[in-house]
Amino acid sequence: MKKWLMMMLAAALMIGVLAGCGARSQQSGGSTEGSSSEGQATDEKIIIKFSHVVAENTPKGQAAQMFKELAEEYTNGKVEVQVFPNSQLYTDEDVLAAVQQNNVQLAAPSTSVVTKLYPQWTLFDLPFIFKDEANVQAAMESPEIGGKLFTMLEEQNLLGLAMWDNGFKQTHSNKAVRMPEDFKGQKLRVMSSKVLEAQFHAVGANPTPMAFGEVYSALEQGVIDGGENTLSNVYSQKMHEVQKYLTMSNHGYLGYAVITNADFWNGLPEDVRASLEKALNETTTWVRENSARVNNEQLELIKQAGTTEIIELTEEEKQAWVDAMTTIYADFEGEIGKDLIDAAKALW
Ligand code: LMR
Repeated sequence: MKKWLMMMLAAALMIGVLAGCGARSQQSGGSTEGSSSEGQATDEKIIIKFSHVVAENTPKGQAAQMFKELAEEYTNGKVEVQVFPNSQLYTDEDVLAAVQQNNVQLAAPSTSVVTKLYPQWTLFDLPFIFKDEANVQAAMESPEIGGKLFTMLEEQNLLGLAMWDNGFKQTHSNKAVRMPEDFKGQKLRVMSSKVLEAQFHAVGANPTPMAFGEVYSALEQGVIDGGENTLSNVYSQKMHEVQKYLTMSNHGYLGYAVITNADFWNGLPEDVRASLEKALNETTTWVRENSARVNNEQLELIKQAGTTEIIELTEEEKQAWVDAMTTIYADFEGEIGKDLIDAAKALW
């Protein structure tokens, strides 16, 4: 685990110890079953609800299931993790409030979702800010970027536990998009993020913020022309079945902040929290090592379906995207912070 993250978790542990685990008695969502005597380890089962919006066969869906299995094993059944995929419990619009209210104890929203609380997090939405997955991971591990962004969450009784990868976003549409001018007038779905809107405005498209769970039917009904997403999100939502073109643009990154309620986490018995951290670390390693594989395998499945033409960009075409989209950086230096943008650029 990264040094700054270990320090944060150690500090959180100390707070928990000093609080004598008293916060457990305040847990509503992280509910316990059976009788308890406050501050002592008991046989009660601790229920952790984990809400997310994607399908189970995506990197995040598989990671959530893996975390459940490891957490239950390492805590010898003291913890039961209930995973709710496909926006069954909460959408990205309301999940952070649900974590703050301890109605769910774990969520892994895309970093774009966190921008509602802290615009600095839109750093991750900037087009072409990261070279590759290793570059993103270096950013998350750096105290100047990951450390700073995760520390902010604590003001809101949230605790960032890990960063999970999905991958780079591609562009799907009913029109072939090769050059920036091909975007003109296209109505494209984006996650709720000012940077993502600006990115598409910069190439003449009409960005339309929309919840993830609504995208497929909006595409099917022609309410929108296309959007941007990772291959696993495109495949698992069957977007390729209702889109004629998929441009391998790799223009932006989509990853997740694994977030819990700070009072809940700090109030867990020490041994339980240590076991959950072990489960989470192993899951995080798995996602890092496997998210690209899952996305690549699902690209093959998209190709096999034969419903979508895959467009590969030439170096010149790609450069035209970079030139058009990175013009927005200057407009976001204030909100994101020039220091954060420069720190990310310095990782190239
Ligand atoms: C999206 O809304 O497109 C993504 O945030 C969904 C996800 O969680 O990967």
